[in-house]
Amino acid sequence: MAVDVLLGLQWGDEGKGKIVDVLTPKYDIIARFQGGPNAGHTLVFDDIKHVTHTIPSGIFNEGCLNIIGNGVVIDPVIFKREIKELNDLGIDVKSKLKISKKAHLILPTHRLLDQASERAKGKEKIGSTLKGIGPTYMDKTGRNGLRIGDIISTSFKAKYEFLVRKHAQILKYYNFDYDLTEAEAEWMDAIETIRGLDLIDSEYFINDAIKANKSILAEGAQGTLLDIDFGSYPYVTSSNTVCAGACTGLGIAPNQTGEVIGIFKAYCTRVGSGPFPTELTDEIGKKMGVAGNEFGATTGRPRRCGWIDLPALKYAVMINGVTNLIMTKADVLNEFKTISVCTHYIYNGEKIDYFPYELIDDLTPVYKEMKGWNTDLSEVGSMEDVPAELADYISYLEAELGVPITMVSIGPDRKQILVPEKVSAY
Ligand code: GDP
Ligand code: IMO
Ligand code: MG
Repeated sequence: MAVDVLLGLQWGDEGKGKIVDVLTPKYDIIARFQGGPNAGHTLVFDDIKHVTHTIPSGIFNEGCLNIIGNGVVIDPVIFKREIKELNDLGIDVKSKLKISKKAHLILPTHRLLDQASERAKGKEKIGSTLKGIGPTYMDKTGRNGLRIGDIISTSFKAKYEFLVRKHAQILKYYNFDYDLTEAEAEWMDAIETIRGLDLIDSEYFINDAIKANKSILAEGAQGTLLDIDFGSYPYVTSSNTVCAGACTGLGIAPNQTGEVIGIFKAYCTRVGSGPFPTELTDEIGKKMGVAGNEFGATTGRPRRCGWIDLPALKYAVMINGVTNLIMTKADVLNEFKTISVCTHYIYNGEKIDYFPYELIDDLTPVYKEMKGWNTDLSEVGSMEDVPAELADYISYLEAELGVPITMVSIGPDRKQILVPEKVSAY
């Protein structure tokens, strides 16, 4: 079967983890294709809240196999912690998880390089999660990286030391003091945990699964506007978060991809630095942040909030070839009398509806106002029963984006999801 791809259409944290969890019963395999522990995907069910960073969000489902693809970067220490937390919940991670030998390793010195680079940038800093993501992908593309498959090689230690010596030179340039002793010991210890897991040629495994008619969902991390090529560069992450990233990050041919499921919030958030045209720094933005509990799942930083941005969403739909849209966090707008939708920007005095090369400071959003539903959605059972104002909001977005909205999420729990009765896809 063709591989469905699920990804974020904004600046991350759209609720991908929750939706993967909702969709997992439909799939045999969930495969993460890029990013690393900069991601934090939250799942809530049976009064448990769980955040996955490296491990795919299908891990909680009994019958589902999970794969960490070659496009992912792994910090063994964080990964080991994640495994322990899951084991403590009674999940046998070892039997349900396979890891690509071609996934790259985040070294302790990659984390230091991330810190040193951000410190040197001062006010221009990216607002990185400081998990070593950028430096690790730099070593990957610079052909210096260490891969999961290296840990079973007899020359692993030598390769590690060679790379750490290179990093030490760069850290000297940054004038960055550090002591590696403890972090290195912890890292080496965590490598032992990985040695005991199922390390595979995931591209063969996945293509065999496609041939065997297995259903597979590729799980993206971050969001389209953080993509290294198409995001708000340089305020982006260091991987391809878009649909094409699922092909390179798993070894799937483009003609083997199926549905492209784009996740977006009913409004918009961003964490870290960088332009955000519809950002609200006023009371309305604060109200969204409180109602949506907008704090980073990985770093705990407050997320910046603003209205939904159609030029950016249309761009994301185009780049990814989105076939299904899922809107999350509709409930966060329950107490808004009016809702604004950014339809255009004023860019250098001109009204535009595309996502420009640079989101310059004086890019001004043009808004259309819509009536809010101003109702508690918790008692609504299906998409057919939503208040008229929410139905209008959904129809308007569908018409503008040219793609159907096939689910609406109305709360963090797995059960808080509205599906149209007519949709048979799920
Ligand atoms: P991800 O990175 O895309 O998986 O998203 P995060 O987990 O970082 O952030 C989404 C946050 O919103 C988490 O705290 C979720 O529990 C929560 N969430 C997801 N869907 C909904 C929803 O429909 N309504 C509300 N109120 N919260 C939601
Ligand atoms: P999920 O998968 C939101 C942001 C960081 C920073 C920029 C670069 O949970 O949606 P990096 O650590 O990659 O060097 O940071 O990207 N960022 C995210 N923002 N959600 C994420 O992941 C993010 N991963 C990275 O805040 O602005
Ligand atoms: Mg997140």
